[in-house]
Amino acid sequence: MAEVRISSDVLSAAAHSHIRGLGLDKDGKAKKIGGGLVGQEEAREAAGIVVKMIKYGRLAGKGILLAGPPGTGKTAIAIAIARELGEDTPFVALNASEVYSLEKKKTEVLMQALRRAIGVRVRETRRVLEGVVTEIKYLRKRSVWSPYPQIAGVKLTLETKDDSMSFSAPPEVAVQLLRLGVKKGDVIIIDAETLDVRKVGRAKGRGTKLYDIDITEEVEIPSGSVEKTKDILRTFTLHDIDLSIAAQRAVFTGLLALFGGEKEISDEVRRKTDEIVKNWIEEKKAELVPGVLFIDDAHLLDLEVYSFITKAMESDFAPIIILATNRGMTKIRGTDIESPHGMPRDLLDRLLIIPTRPYTTDEIREIIRIRSEEQEIPLSQDALEELTKLGSTHSLRYALQLLEPSRIIAESQGRIKVEKQDVEAASKLFADIKTSVKLLEKYRDLMLY
Ligand SMILES: Nc1ncnc2c1ncn2[C@@H]1O[C@H](COP(=O)(O)OP(=O)(O)OP(=O)(O)O)[C@@H](O)[C@H]1O
Ligand SMILES: [Mg+2]
Repeated sequence: MAEVRISSDVLSAAAHSHIRGLGLDKDGKAKKIGGGLVGQEEAREAAGIVVKMIKYGRLAGKGILLAGPPGTGKTAIAIAIARELGEDTPFVALNASEVYSLEKKKTEVLMQALRRAIGVRVRETRRVLEGVVTEIKYLRKRSVWSPYPQIAGVKLTLETKDDSMSFSAPPEVAVQLLRLGVKKGDVIIIDAETLDVRKVGRAKGRGTKLYDIDITEEVEIPSGSVEKTKDILRTFTLHDIDLSIAAQRAVFTGLLALFGGEKEISDEVRRKTDEIVKNWIEEKKAELVPGVLFIDDAHLLDLEVYSFITKAMESDFAPIIILATNRGMTKIRGTDIESPHGMPRDLLDRLLIIPTRPYTTDEIREIIRIRSEEQEIPLSQDALEELTKLGSTHSLRYALQLLEPSRIIAESQGRIKVEKQDVEAASKLFADIKTSVKLLEKYRDLMLY
């Protein structure tokens, strides 16, 4: 089964790579600049409360709507929420346009997304070796095929407060130790069956801190014997379990070749999963971790999809729904009904709305500066001012989109640093939307329709 983290196009989009979190202090107040975010303090603070409600399970059956003009950070804030929730809470991000695929029914796409957004944390008892590393020696062998010595294994001694054990481990373990940078004095856990290695931290009072920047956490030295059984928590999603049950059935009926892995899953399989999970929960073998389904540009959804979502929010296993839109009063797609944000009232009634507002010039300057650093595009002071001006007269996104062309223009002049004239040249070559619409009007008779 796959691990729980899901990254979709929305989450991994390069435009938001500078966002690390909501940038709130301990009291939940937004710093002017924090986590890669600038301004928009109220929306960030509201998002901070949402993160807490999700973590404490107080948002079941409800949803959030991020609403505001284009380029005011709605997608950015949703991504910050995902970062704040951390790896253990499933966060599925979907652009509303992805619901309308040619291969799958729209309700199927949504159903899969909803089930990916619900984690099932299972407690498993595993046999492990746990202790402080007191000896670590890599064994190397020469091969006739390669001039470099190959790693043939590792000799380890692990100690607890009460026990010590020396053994040789195979290359799989050696490679992980190298990758994790395990040193003497680190506490590690090795799964005896899967051979997965986990570095727990640095044993208190053992070894010396090599550098001040050594950020490894200090942990207690374990007690008991080195070899032991330990409860390990693993998180799957309902969709993982659906897939695995569907695959088993496919094998059973000899259909594995036809089962592409990600195609449609029958209701029967999903019912089976729900039944199994409910039993696990009753027997206290598992707990449910409701995650988040984020649907960006939600105004692209139609009435049928909205009804499906509203209904899903009421089911036993419902994730928290976060929607984002930049539409005001408009028609619900596929109908003649005007409604706020183009969404049906019964859905709106279940949503807490977080508004986002346009940025001030200072905020725009700061966002452009952060993005230019993130993209490693050095700007002169004048260039930054020119972009800021374009950001406030045209749009923030337009200014951000000009960064890369400006860099290329500067480079073609043999310069590394982007100057004001490069930005001006770029803005002449690339039109923003308003200008583009004006041109369309001007050349109306010449365009193809
Ligand atoms: N407060 C902010 N701090 C830092 N970067 C921001 C902030 N707001 C927006 N950005 C960045 O500006 C760009 C546009 O913002 P974003 O895509 O989040 O806007 P949006 O509100 O989702 O717009 P749309 O309605 O068009 O989808 C992105 O690159 C985003 O990361
Ligand atoms: Mg957006």
